[in-house]
Amino acid sequence: MKGKILVTGGTGYIGSHTVVELQAAGYEVVIIDNLSNSNREVLDGIEKISGVRPVFVEADCTDKEALTKLFDENPGINGIINFAASKAVGESVQKPLLYYRNNLVTLINLLELMPKYGTKGIVFSSSCTVYGEPDVNPVDETAPIKKATSPYGNTKQISEEIIADYITSGAPIKSILLRYFNPVGAHPSAEIGELPNGVPQNLIPFLTQTAIGIRKELSVFGNDYNTPDGSCIRDFINVVDLAKAHVKALERMLEDKSEEKLEVFNLGTGVGLSVLELINAFETATGVKVPHKIVGRREGDIEKVWANPDRANNVLGWKATTPIEDTMRSAWNWQLRLRERGIM
Ligand code: UD1
Repeated sequence: MKGKILVTGGTGYIGSHTVVELQAAGYEVVIIDNLSNSNREVLDGIEKISGVRPVFVEADCTDKEALTKLFDENPGINGIINFAASKAVGESVQKPLLYYRNNLVTLINLLELMPKYGTKGIVFSSSCTVYGEPDVNPVDETAPIKKATSPYGNTKQISEEIIADYITSGAPIKSILLRYFNPVGAHPSAEIGELPNGVPQNLIPFLTQTAIGIRKELSVFGNDYNTPDGSCIRDFINVVDLAKAHVKALERMLEDKSEEKLEVFNLGTGVGLSVLELINAFETATGVKVPHKIVGRREGDIEKVWANPDRANNVLGWKATTPIEDTMRSAWNWQLRLRERGIM
């Protein structure tokens, strides 16, 4: 075993894919999740893929007593990957305090416990949302941080600052901040994937639910942006590729390869794809049509953003390699599996 890793939010979308990759790389995993946006069956999926069932603790990371108990009962946790957070942009505008409490108290609890239990490093899930509408694309890590447009986005910015301040104060920990662009797709086995609650707010789950007939039509939010086809441009990154970057980041911190106590990496493909191009890629890859119509812009949307992943490629030694067509097929196979299992 390479070490024991606590994965908060480990039954969630990106968390579950990361647990699979960690176990494949020889790490022992302890998951803590309150199941607010996931379920226990995810553990079966993880076990089917990797042959190992991770330790699972059902608890909320804002509950410091529960976290302390977890550290006591699972001695020797070397590193943490913190996925546990609320992430719906719209909901965060309606319920800002819920977002600040969940996302910030979770992080503070973890940071406070790390030195006490000798936990060396924490990988933090951040987002390209910290760049707002960037002045230039592709965006590298030196691009200015823009004022957040939602409480959700603000929790990511504040979290990054909390970690930086804590390390500056001399705390005996290391951290890597990973700024994700738009994670999409599912594990190629279709045993795990994204399972949104209610009507999906994000593009891909809405698209696959439309393709399978759960939704009548996909609304494309705007075709009058300053882009070649008028729809917004994003950097869609395969979730398994993304998960693998976490393993690299963890190794880097725990094996003392990192140059600084705090590092930041953009995780994207380096390729911007428009919403209409993505629909087209899905249709080409699966042969399934996606009924869609153009509607007005969605408030708060960024026009275009894609990553310069050079630092992740060259320094972290990680690269997104999955072609978008394979990613779209994986998203579709996952949607088909959900129907087979009678989930949706
Ligand atoms: C948002 C957040 C990001 C977060 C991500 C996942 C911001 C600025 N972005 O990204 O931080 O990590 O959600 O929770 O806070 N679209 C449609 N029709 C739909 C849905 C989406 O046309 O039904 C379009 C959107 O207008 C956008 C693109 O698809 O141009 C991607 O949207 P979405 O999947 O919601 O992700 P982001 O808004 O980019």
